[in-house]
Amino acid sequence: MFDLIATSAMGLEALVAKEVRDLGYECSVENGRISYKGDASAIARSNLWLRTADRIRIKIGEFKATTFDELFEKTKALPWENFLPEDAEFPVTGKSVKSKLFSVSDCQAIVKKAIVERMRKHYKKSGWFDENGPLFKIEVALHKDVALLTIDASGSGLHKRGYRAGQGEAPLKETLAAALVMLTNWTPDKPFVDPFCGSGTIPIEAALIGQNIAPGFNREFVSEGWHWVPEKVWEEARMETEDLASYDQPLDITGTDIDHRMVKIAEENAFEAGLGDLIQFKQMQVRDFTTTKEYGVIVGNPPYGERLGDKDAVQKMYAEMGAALAPLDTWSIYILTSNEQFEQYYGKPATKKRKLFNGFIRTDYYQYWGKRPPRIK
Ligand SMILES: C[S@@+](CC[C@H](N)C(=O)[O-])C[C@H]1O[C@@H](n2cnc3c(N)ncnc32)[C@H](O)[C@@H]1O
Repeated sequence: MFDLIATSAMGLEALVAKEVRDLGYECSVENGRISYKGDASAIARSNLWLRTADRIRIKIGEFKATTFDELFEKTKALPWENFLPEDAEFPVTGKSVKSKLFSVSDCQAIVKKAIVERMRKHYKKSGWFDENGPLFKIEVALHKDVALLTIDASGSGLHKRGYRAGQGEAPLKETLAAALVMLTNWTPDKPFVDPFCGSGTIPIEAALIGQNIAPGFNREFVSEGWHWVPEKVWEEARMETEDLASYDQPLDITGTDIDHRMVKIAEENAFEAGLGDLIQFKQMQVRDFTTTKEYGVIVGNPPYGERLGDKDAVQKMYAEMGAALAPLDTWSIYILTSNEQFEQYYGKPATKKRKLFNGFIRTDYYQYWGKRPPRIK
């Protein structure tokens, strides 16, 4: 069993924890960290399935360290040889928050030296290691004098699904786009629209969710090169993603954008994700949106109007959006923006707001819940 950590963007911890539990692992939640125990298959499955986590790390040790000696000795006492083969490439990165050991470069160098000493003893080697084998990215993270030592099991962040060939000016991270969809009441039988689709991230994530396609099916992970996560484990985990996907689930997902170049990019990205014929993209301004469908869901990430000179245009556009969407009383509408006057311009107070971070930008997710469909007796 390994101690695993799924890291999460601020504000998404509860969603990541739910995903981890849905995979079958009990977990505990702390700021930005969802901790759980799992075997090698948990490493593969977490990487393949978690839609809202940033990355998967393996915890090697956690201890108090207020001096460099302490950091060195306690790092050296950990069983690195259980994880790192003799030819491992093992760069060390670091961070330090509110800790006596604040020089990150010194902490990195000390951790590296301690691991090298431990490995020298184990592998009976005196000189330097060649480091020409599989990659094990080690992180030493100090927080209030507690050092957490982890190995990154993902490689590129989990938001890199492998489908985004092109993007616009302000693309959403795929992990946040998935979270926005998961925070709605959408079910795959309902219509789904993103009227500001840009490079198509939200509709693509909705389609992946709608057909229960594992977000990582199209990419590789650094832990695929590790001898203690056997190839067979990866094969089985990938097979499971195939078995659980509902490719026959019909979907009614549309993405529109004022910019025809973005529509083309979104189409290419959806095609890259293997969802080309499942999502309709078209060029349209939000003010022209009409529909005769009912009980649908709209998720939009419009421009925020943060740049000088954009403010008035955005204010006008929010008002036009409010007018266009007002007749849709059976639809639920979810808009992510950092614009604090959004409700005022849109012309209606939200049913609920949720604070979220789009990178470093503090935003609110404005939620307008539509009427519920009548109950079928
Ligand atoms: C923040 S970006 C959306 C990014 C997108 N979520 C992604 O991941 O690529 C906002 C988008 O809204 C579009 N847009 C701006 N004004 C619009 C309007 N009046 N109607 C429709 N789309 C508009 C822009 O062209 C831009 O692509």
